[in-house]
Amino acid sequence: MSGSNQSIDTNCMSLTRWVLAEQRKYPSASGDLTQLLVSIQTAVKAISSAVRKAGIAHLYGMAGDVNVQGEEVKKLDVLANDLFINMLKASFSTCLLVSEENETVIEVEVERQGKYVVCFDPLDGSSNIDCLVSIGSIFGIYRRSSEGTPSVSDALQPGRNLVAAGYALYGSATMMVISIGNGVNGFIIFTSIGEFVLTDPNMKIKEKGKIYSLNEGYANLWDAAVSEYVLEQKKKKAGGRYIGSMVADVHRTIKYGGIFMYPATADAPKGKLRLLYECNPMAYIVEKAGGVATTGKTPVLDVVPTAIHQRIPIFLGSKLDVQQIIDLYKKHGI
Ligand code: AHM
Ligand code: MG
Repeated sequence: MSGSNQSIDTNCMSLTRWVLAEQRKYPSASGDLTQLLVSIQTAVKAISSAVRKAGIAHLYGMAGDVNVQGEEVKKLDVLANDLFINMLKASFSTCLLVSEENETVIEVEVERQGKYVVCFDPLDGSSNIDCLVSIGSIFGIYRRSSEGTPSVSDALQPGRNLVAAGYALYGSATMMVISIGNGVNGFIIFTSIGEFVLTDPNMKIKEKGKIYSLNEGYANLWDAAVSEYVLEQKKKKAGGRYIGSMVADVHRTIKYGGIFMYPATADAPKGKLRLLYECNPMAYIVEKAGGVATTGKTPVLDVVPTAIHQRIPIFLGSKLDVQQIIDLYKKHGI
């Protein structure tokens, strides 16, 4: 969707227009959430542009740093993180930020504080950057839970409290998928006008799909429920797809149906993916699109966080497919 031959609807629903229209449904709304979403949109546009020209601009490779998870941080990660932090602070709508790239919460300067807490992964799927495979950004927005000086407890809210969440996918096109509570909408960037335009209104996940998605390299480390589930999929000749970028794998799951899994393994009993800025926003979008997201035992959105970088196992996607794994966890008493 790039170049000058994109046909433009002269009355198109841009993301900014859509957010403003949503705001008007709530006459008492202050406009802070609108400002916040516009600031995320700006960060995403800049990240998208950097991702597209990473090779030419020499943004690949290490920045010589490791993030709080002990992984190598790439130049693009640093840039994406700085963009999210700077744009969010400048929106005058946030007071506390949690980023995958920062060990501790980031408190916004008092004079720029607003009522929202934002948890985000500025650039997820970083192992895919160097080979040009799709990567993404993920964010979840909460209203702060206390008054006075914001503290980490404002960020340790269950996903059920989310006010809005979404992701940006830097794929063959750049797309933002957002929910502010009622339905899920997708917007693709039209580079000719520099705007996200509504292309996927009211996204819904099929009740049942034909695709399963997980890293099969860890098969020897799975529990009995996951092993049995995957065996069943193979017997049914279900399609296997795994990109290794959560945003891309979840986006495909929403569009085509099926299940995405990052289960616990014997050597990582909590799985890999982080609750606050990877699992919760994705679980929120999936539930709002009519799907299900679980740890195997508990709905992801009901997990009460105890630490900002906490990990959980996750299974999400089509309702009936995810129900099957929930049933297997019950059957095996895990
Ligand atoms: P990251 O935050 O370091 O990029 O890791 C998260 C990514 C997810 O996008 C993806 O689902 C997962 O890691 C893939 O992990 P694995 O290589 O173990 O299959
Ligand atoms: Mg990540």
